[in-house]
Amino acid sequence: MPVTKVLTEGIGEVDMRGIDAYRARGGYKQWERAVREMQPVDVLNLAEKSGLRGRGGAGFPTGRKWSFLPKDKLLRYLVCNCDEAEPGTFKDHMLLEKTPHLVIEGMLIGAYAIASHHAFIYIRGEFRRGYEIFCAALEEAKRAGYIGKNIFGSGFDLELTVHRGAGAYICGEETALLNSLEGKRGEPRLKPPFPAVEGLYGMPTVVNNVETLAYLVPILERGAQWFAAVGTERSKGYKIVSVSGHVRNPGNYEIALGTTIRELIEIAGGLRPGRKLMAVQPGGGSSACVFEEHLDWPYDYESLAKAGSMLGSGAMVVFDDTTDFVKAAYNLVRFFAHESCGQCTPCREGGDWMARVLNRLVNYRGVPGDIQMLLRVSSGITGLNLCPLGDSIEPFLKSVMLRFPDQFESRILAPQAQPA
Ligand SMILES: Cc1cc2nc3c(=O)[nH]c(=O)nc-3n(C[C@H](O)[C@H](O)[C@H](O)COP(=O)(O)O)c2cc1C
Ligand code: SF4
Repeated sequence: MPVTKVLTEGIGEVDMRGIDAYRARGGYKQWERAVREMQPVDVLNLAEKSGLRGRGGAGFPTGRKWSFLPKDKLLRYLVCNCDEAEPGTFKDHMLLEKTPHLVIEGMLIGAYAIASHHAFIYIRGEFRRGYEIFCAALEEAKRAGYIGKNIFGSGFDLELTVHRGAGAYICGEETALLNSLEGKRGEPRLKPPFPAVEGLYGMPTVVNNVETLAYLVPILERGAQWFAAVGTERSKGYKIVSVSGHVRNPGNYEIALGTTIRELIEIAGGLRPGRKLMAVQPGGGSSACVFEEHLDWPYDYESLAKAGSMLGSGAMVVFDDTTDFVKAAYNLVRFFAHESCGQCTPCREGGDWMARVLNRLVNYRGVPGDIQMLLRVSSGITGLNLCPLGDSIEPFLKSVMLRFPDQFESRILAPQAQPA
């Protein structure tokens, strides 16, 4: 079975939290090599050539994103996004807890690539354990001279600041995260200007996901070609996929992009005995479901988009024939409605009303017209919001309503049973 161990190597087998254990496996060698032997632009070019794309959700090419920073502004920041609140995603906090020095080394290399002297990590408030483990690792890295002034005698200075969120999903969106980091209310900003031009404290800023930055370490070690040789034409390299739902062994599995959805389900132990697959949500709570006919499709950015869904953060939820899709849809819509920051009317009002109608259906008290109304309102919400959270309400709901209409229709009360 095509399971790979790159970032996940040693996890579950060796305790890699301490700096000695990390160094014993070659840790911080790539950071030293970058600072001593490479110019920032060399690291940027390497990332670009590797084909690495952001692992936080949008899949934007990492090197290209870095190249948008204005050349004339020397004060710039790198922010590592460890908010990880997308339903079904649990890979970043695994890296934070199990291999914190890899996260630090990836951040240092990322900051160097954009010639930043100050990196931040924004850690979701609930990750108390991960936060404590990361802080302990950070102290060790500082003491070892990997962070601070004149690193390896090169004249390059770099600070790393840890910031804890307070448990709002919207603070994972990069501009809401920057507002929160600045001590403001965590609400998305209007774009443009994009963070690369005007980000943290008004300065050019790159926001990257934990997994994206961590992959810089093996890419530096083994070369851009090594990474680019794996995957599909436009989806290169490896990816950690959080597989959950109705599989026998839910967990984080690192695979080459392009592994099929069927293989991924098998890697996670397959379905429970006697159960039948009904749907797969391949890319986090914001993604539409794919179905049986897509099982042999490659798990990559392009194929999932072609199937009407997305790879997103790489959180794959498997649903078997015991699933109540009305309840599942209610659960997600209620989550998005609760997490709406309230700036945009369609997201704030639409999400809340849809959750109420779905609640009615869950309790077998739907009224004729509810299904049509849900479809109409959800498509009316999409595309009219300031950030992608509002557009996340429709995909799962619509995909399962169209696929399993009976489950929804059976919750509508017959006209004679309607309350007067
Ligand atoms: C509502 C919402 C929540 C998000 N949550 C996260 C998150 O927890 N972690 C993350 O890396 N990106 C998250 N993103 C995506 C970020 O805005 C951003 O695209 C990402 O951090 C960029 O990093 P990358 O280029 O390395 O993928 C979220 C986006 C939205 C709209
Ligand atoms: S879409 Fe929703 S979460 Fe995003 S800015 Fe608008 S109201 Fe806030």
